[in-house]
Amino acid sequence: MMPPSSIEPVAQLSPAERAALSAVPAPCDLPTHVEVFEVGPRDGLQNIASVVPAAVKIDLINRLCTLGFRRIEAVSFVHPHAVPQMADAEAVMAGIDKGTAQIVGLVPNVRGVERALACGGIDALNFVLSATESQNQRNLRQSIAESLDALGESAALARSAGLPLRATISTAFGCPFEGYVPPERVLDIAERCAALGAGEICLGDTTGMAVPTQVYRLFRALALRVPALPLAVHLHNTRGSGAANLMAALHAGVAIADASIGGLGGCPFAPGATGNICSEDTVHMLSGVGISTGIDLEGLIVAARAFEPRIGVHLPGQVMRAGSSLGALRR
Ligand code: COA
Ligand code: ZN
Repeated sequence: MMPPSSIEPVAQLSPAERAALSAVPAPCDLPTHVEVFEVGPRDGLQNIASVVPAAVKIDLINRLCTLGFRRIEAVSFVHPHAVPQMADAEAVMAGIDKGTAQIVGLVPNVRGVERALACGGIDALNFVLSATESQNQRNLRQSIAESLDALGESAALARSAGLPLRATISTAFGCPFEGYVPPERVLDIAERCAALGAGEICLGDTTGMAVPTQVYRLFRALALRVPALPLAVHLHNTRGSGAANLMAALHAGVAIADASIGGLGGCPFAPGATGNICSEDTVHMLSGVGISTGIDLEGLIVAARAFEPRIGVHLPGQVMRAGSSLGALRR
């Protein structure tokens, strides 16, 4: 079924247009609401060579907090030598005026959770590990088994502090070091994460290697493996398949999508990683399809345009340049 508020003006068709379209098979069910989870302040900024001042980060996060996002990944609690850009996580958190938005902190280990709990203002945790040993070693300097042990301890700590914890499995669709990632391995890791206390599972296409059929199949299989948990998708648009991969994930039942303002993003430990799928482009497309996001698209476009010169990088977002076409298509 086409969602009811799709910009395809089905309700306004003439009888002849309606007859012509009635021969077209309806697409599969899509969710009517998708949560766009903003990760720009963390995944986006972590890959910028020059250090962005805490005040600029705070301005960005505070602006994002007014635009309707339910969750914003604002910082990570990782080793400052590993990602110098995130070394000021505590200072950034001290300046945030979050309103009703939930602020999420990425954590790689128990020490990260302890820092997150100590600094205050964090509403949820995103524990990251990789689907491949090579990427886990490069990124986190530990084996997957060690990461899973840390996840168990982290989930227990989070639970006693009353914070939800999501597990993000990066390089789930392809690895810059190992190439092909067996789907069974991803499903096994996801099942372990669920058993260890993760309340949501996210699969990451860290270097944009996924294709839509693969995304669809892996999420369908994941929904069978961990049927009780919400599923999220974290896509990078490195090879231009981001929007198609997102639609494939939605067709598979996913209703949470990470995205970053302006399409900023990357991973310093994954060669070839580029930006996340872009928040404005994603909201624009979903809105056009008739899927609500609760996000103020025009406000987000204005924010992306205002933010670009302040960080001194060219953002790959497209709707921030072209503007929304949704108004023009409604009749
Ligand atoms: N934040 C700050 N410091 C940390 C830390 C954290 N989350 N985790 C460990 N440390 C400190 C320890 O306290 C210890 O300090 P000390 O030498 O003063 O005693 C030191 O780091 C070494 O601890 P160890 O557990 O051996 O960590 P490591 O050096 O093996 O590094 C990680 C492991 C996970 C902390 C590091 O690889 C990392 O931060 N990776 C994250 C990379 C990232 O953010 N990638 C992009 C997002 S996916
Ligand atoms: Zn990412």
